[in-house]
Amino acid sequence: MAAPTPHISAASGAFAPVVLLPGDPRRASHIAERHLEDAAQVTAVRNMLGFTGTYHGTPVSVMGTGMGIPSLSIYATELIRDYGVTELIRVGSCGGLTDDVELRDIIVATGASTDSGVNRRRIHGFDLSAVADYGLLRRAVEAAERLGHPVRVGPIYSSDLFYAPEPELMATLAGLGILGVEMEAAGLYGLAAAEGAKALTIATVSDHLHKGGHLSSEERETSFDEMMEIALHAAVAG
Ligand code: HPA
Repeated sequence: MAAPTPHISAASGAFAPVVLLPGDPRRASHIAERHLEDAAQVTAVRNMLGFTGTYHGTPVSVMGTGMGIPSLSIYATELIRDYGVTELIRVGSCGGLTDDVELRDIIVATGASTDSGVNRRRIHGFDLSAVADYGLLRRAVEAAERLGHPVRVGPIYSSDLFYAPEPELMATLAGLGILGVEMEAAGLYGLAAAEGAKALTIATVSDHLHKGGHLSSEERETSFDEMMEIALHAAVAG
């Protein structure tokens, strides 16, 4: 292990074994301030803020990843290889795809299809099944049940393009039962498999691609806090 790394300025040992990964670094500071005890900032390279504190007495870190698989992959790789992180829980937003998904729904992603080429590169051009770690998935679903926060559990899609050129693709994905679209989970799952780490993605539905509509900033705040509670309870249940 060698710390600091090109993209993380923390000392070695500065991260807990379990890290929550929001895309937005300001959300990382929000989580640290609002949900962790004794949180201290441990890195700020490129303003990609990371914090370590405790939750119900157990060490937990939280760090922004930026948007998209390439950005997330840089931070997640260095966290695993150089900071000894073993469990990574992405806490993000997604666009709803199927008609039975509503704004504010919280999706626990069993697996993620993708148009990204990163996982094919890992296995000689074949298709990796990019799936969540079952133990983390189960801890999240059990935490949601205990907390009384309903969740949807199913597959999502990770797109390399937010502004995608093929509008018909989204209907095809919905027809396959894919609940939502975001931009990171498939990369996180493939990376975790390659590095021997455990990963999970939880995403709040912030807009709906077929039905339209998007959350106000206030609605975002409350539904994101429920997702955070689920993620933090899952994080410390290991
Ligand atoms: N597409 C991709 N990522 C997203 C979306 C979307 O519509 N909404 C939230 N994250």
